[in-house]
Amino acid sequence: MGKPLNVGIIGCGKIVEQYLASFRRLDEISLVAVADLDPARAQAVADDCEGVRALTVEELLAADDVELVLNLTIPAAHADVALKAIAAGKHVYGEKPLAATTAEAREVLDAAKAAGVQVGCAPDTVLGTGIQTARKAIDDGLIGRPISATATMVTPGHERWHPNPDFYYQPGGGPLLDMGPYYVSALVTLLGPVVSVMGAASHTRAERTIGSGPRGGETVPVTTDTHVTGVLVHASGALSTLVMSFDAVKSKSPNIEIHGEHGSLAVPDPNHFDGEVQLFPIGGTDWQILPVSAGYADSGRGFGIADLAGTPEGQEPRAGGQLAFHALEIMEGVLKSAHSGQSVPIASSADRPAAVELVNIARPTTLAR
Ligand SMILES: NC(=O)c1ccc[n+]([C@@H]2O[C@H](COP(=O)([O-])OP(=O)(O)OC[C@H]3O[C@@H](n4cnc5c(N)ncnc54)[C@H](O)[C@@H]3O)[C@@H](O)[C@H]2O)c1
Repeated sequence: MGKPLNVGIIGCGKIVEQYLASFRRLDEISLVAVADLDPARAQAVADDCEGVRALTVEELLAADDVELVLNLTIPAAHADVALKAIAAGKHVYGEKPLAATTAEAREVLDAAKAAGVQVGCAPDTVLGTGIQTARKAIDDGLIGRPISATATMVTPGHERWHPNPDFYYQPGGGPLLDMGPYYVSALVTLLGPVVSVMGAASHTRAERTIGSGPRGGETVPVTTDTHVTGVLVHASGALSTLVMSFDAVKSKSPNIEIHGEHGSLAVPDPNHFDGEVQLFPIGGTDWQILPVSAGYADSGRGFGIADLAGTPEGQEPRAGGQLAFHALEIMEGVLKSAHSGQSVPIASSADRPAAVELVNIARPTTLAR
């Protein structure tokens, strides 16, 4: 392995801890600086990480030693921060979605192409052993030709646990743009790109009440759909049915199921990196647990950046901008269709990212700095 990639983080909120935990286990990445609109949040991270500077956003963007900006701001700020980082000559990797709209996301991809820098984007969960083992099962022909998939994510709403849940209920949020990236990226990884979508959606309450933290009891306005269903028509002809809801208490439906000519596959939660893949072959008597056979073992949020660091120049990283853009256009299309009542064609495409062989790139947790 060559020199580690120097990373600067913009946005030190709830999710930053998970990235810090991964970076402590990844030799490919060296965190050098952090910034946030709220300087105290950046300082708190710097205090916790030896050798990491807390800077203003402008200072971080101007820092010569920052090679890649990790953008952990809220969705409404994703494009603005990414464009500033690209203008400063940095590679960017952002939390999902790539941007709040495809128009903004297109600007990010175009600017990056012109500047010759890489764009990566969460979710990198699809690189973990759960989705990659499922993908290998499909590629190895265990279910035959895939015909259809179902993807279900329901929760009564993130305001119950997130201290600042406003963004989940604004455009760029909602169950589809918040949780859909995991499911749609997994479906494209498993079944290939999507050519058209149909959707239906509802928006059930005008406000939500924060359930915990200093703002507990405060209400936040809801300006986005909170129950979204859709059908994705894959280029292969396979059909995926999507249910994404902030309006349902619990579900017994599996996160993702793939049905093929010769068998059905139960795929684990695409918001997690691991989990059991189960196969029910035609004529079988029960579900069989498949051995873990592919993906980054023992991984976590941030492994997609290590993957990007190892991507040869000129090649698209696996957790890359093209896939994130395609996923965003699919989700935007489902919402458009929900409001127009018409099927929406998807103009973009994305290759299935190269499969990840079973490998452990993490240092054992016990050796964490
Ligand atoms: N919270 C989770 O469990 C979770 C899980 C997976 C992904 N994500 C994603 O991570 C991202 C951040 O989520 P979060 O939960 O950490 O949010 P958060 O609100 O807790 O943190 C966001 C941080 O970004 C800062 N920020 C906002 N705009 C900024 C700007 N223009 N410049 C600099 N700093 C800015 C805020 O001050 C805040 O500290 C979102 O895209 C979300 O979808 C969150």
